[in-house]
Amino acid sequence: MNEIEGPRKIDDATLDEMLQAARETMPRAYVRYSGFQVGAALLNEDGTIRTAVNVENASYPLSVCAERNAAAAMVASGQTKIVAVAVATNAAHPTPPCGGCRQVLWEFGDADTPVVAEGANGVRARWRLGDLLPHAFGPDDLR
Ligand code: THU
Repeated sequence: MNEIEGPRKIDDATLDEMLQAARETMPRAYVRYSGFQVGAALLNEDGTIRTAVNVENASYPLSVCAERNAAAAMVASGQTKIVAVAVATNAAHPTPPCGGCRQVLWEFGDADTPVVAEGANGVRARWRLGDLLPHAFGPDDLR
């Protein structure tokens, strides 16, 4: 993969590192209902890569996605700016964050925030967060 598009250049090595971190975390997903393992990695401005997995619940709607768990962990550690997002799953193809997670990522990212994904077969996809969530409602709308 070449350098990611957009004004904020993220180099290949960083993306590789993020996807590897997401993939290493992925098997710890608590997915006894769906079997769909997700590992998410968030890159912060200070260079920290923070990972999390999806955690399901017997009361199904209380299940929480990996991306949202990672965002919560990031905020708890004092960071509120997401520079890049990586998602690894056990699906055959790379899958983007769900709609709810796009909204949560938007809170801490922006239109140019790169989102990369990798499926179990190693195939990758990448998007700009602004393309995944066009016409987003966000913090600026409450000013
Ligand atoms: N899931 C995530 O963790 N992230 C996504 O972006 C898509 C969906 C989880 C939620 C649930 O535990 C399982 O994947 C199946 O939807």
